Amino acid sequence: MLRVVLFCALALIELNGANSKRAIRTFPEGFQFGASTAAYQIEGGWNEDGKGLSIWDVTTHMEPSPILDGSNGDIAANSYHLYKRDVEIMKEMGLNFYRFSISWPRILPTGFSNKINQAGLDYYNNLINEMLENGITPFLTIYHSDLPNDLQKLGGWTNPIIVDYFIDYAKVLFDLFGDRIKFWITINEPKQICYEGYGFVDKAPLLNMTGIGEYLCAKNILLAHARAYRLYDEQYRSKQNGVIGISISCSWYEPATDSVEDQQAALDARRFDWGQYGHPIFSKEGGFPIELKRNVDTKSAKQGFARSRLPKLSESEVEFIKGTSDFFGLNTYTTKLAYRNASLEGMYAVPSYRDDMGAILVKDDSWPQGASSWLQEVPWGITKVLREINELYGNPRVYITENGWSTTGGLLDDDRIRYLRNYLDAILDAIDEGCNVKGYTVWSLIDNFEWLNGYSEKFGIYEVDFSSPNRTRTPRKSAFVYKEIIRTKALDFDYEPEEFKDGIN
Ligand SMILES: *[C@@H]1O[C@H](CO)[C@@H](O)[C@H](O)[C@H]1NC(C)=O
Ligand SMILES: *[C@@H]1O[C@H](CO)[C@@H](O)[C@H](O)[C@H]1NC(C)=O
Ligand SMILES: *[C@@H]1O[C@H](CO)[C@@H](O)[C@H](O)[C@H]1NC(C)=O
Repeated sequence: MLRVVLFCALALIELNGANSKRAIRTFPEGFQFGASTAAYQIEGGWNEDGKGLSIWDVTTHMEPSPILDGSNGDIAANSYHLYKRDVEIMKEMGLNFYRFSISWPRILPTGFSNKINQAGLDYYNNLINEMLENGITPFLTIYHSDLPNDLQKLGGWTNPIIVDYFIDYAKVLFDLFGDRIKFWITINEPKQICYEGYGFVDKAPLLNMTGIGEYLCAKNILLAHARAYRLYDEQYRSKQNGVIGISISCSWYEPATDSVEDQQAALDARRFDWGQYGHPIFSKEGGFPIELKRNVDTKSAKQGFARSRLPKLSESEVEFIKGTSDFFGLNTYTTKLAYRNASLEGMYAVPSYRDDMGAILVKDDSWPQGASSWLQEVPWGITKVLREINELYGNPRVYITENGWSTTGGLLDDDRIRYLRNYLDAILDAIDEGCNVKGYTVWSLIDNFEWLNGYSEKFGIYEVDFSSPNRTRTPRKSAFVYKEIIRTKALDFDYEPEEFKDGIN
């Protein structure tokens, strides 16, 4: 009897669902919404008021230019001069917080802490104070890819001395901004810094030393992060009452088939791409993941290297790095299929990170494609990432510190709206399963310089007119949808912004 009633009730819900609206889902109490940017991608003012050169200033000025459209970040969105408008946008949107990064060479022009640039301090003090006056919580990233060029001359993130210099820099920020900053990210996206910048040629400094460079970088990044965390924890936290963590970019890698080889390939891809950074900090046992050690150690020996190309973490280093994050900062965008079979033979240089990983990573043509070649919409991938973080790392507090969609432009961005809604829906699925997600940050507040792809890809929920000296900011349709999500703390797939009821406004 009860079963029949239940069945009828369910059938009724189904019927209603087909004829009317999709159920509105609400976010948990206290869930926070924000938007993100990074210094080099928006600020401009590249050589103003005493700022030093970063590796991106140098890379974008190389001849011939390695940037797709030959552009650079010299002016970018001009946020160095338009920060008040940026804060106005945050207020228009009703953002709870704004995640931005500090340009190391704007504060310390040579990279060293013996000389602080007052104009750089003034800029960030103005930005932070403007946010606070408007009720926006600042979420500060200490390092987001723009290394002072003088430090790169010394080898950058491959030279262990970088750890000392990074701590000197972090200390300056804790001392000067820590009275007002309660959320800190030490380092953004270590894999993209190390693999794309030192292993490959997809990010400055275009070192192209794969199989060696990215592993040296990884160890130094982990130690720099851990020391910054411990410095804050031991000397600042009791006075400043903030939290501090790291942002790791995690893609989901799904086995292409259910063969044992493909399953192992997908697992190895996840351990290489983000376990390499996540495991040492968040796992109970600490240290690099066994899959990473096994693959690189075995291949190095076979290749005749005197020792593994993966630097060892000593027992005391493992202990030192373990547990050094108050939350998991998650940047996540997309999913790829992984497989391993005979076609892997001869596919990658030897030695290389990709050969060590031993996985072929491909897109699925049935998934919606963004303007960025690497970006496809796969909402269930974010649920699986969150589930794996929960299972591997003991359900840490998670802030999603980046997630977003690229287009080629225009204000009517229905594909971005679909992506954001589907991803938020998939995040709510993970929360329903018990994942401890505390906040969501859309990448990006405004259009910006997208690294080697220049201005060809637009990630902003606000458009920036790069052809105007005013760099005018205009809300896209997605901005109104996001605003309503923040206002209601709910996800309503049927909401149509008033401003776009008749198509484009
Ligand atoms: C990077 O190094 C590889 C060898 O590992 C080489 O084939 C390739 O041409 C290099 N790329 C650039 C842009 O220098
Ligand atoms: C390897 O696997 C991929 C994906 O399943 C498949 O497309 C390809 O044909 C396979 N190649 C070989 C040589 O088995
Ligand atoms: C830029 O802004 C100024 C001052 O508000 C205005 O007079 C001018 O028309 C604007 N120019 C463009 C190209 O939008």
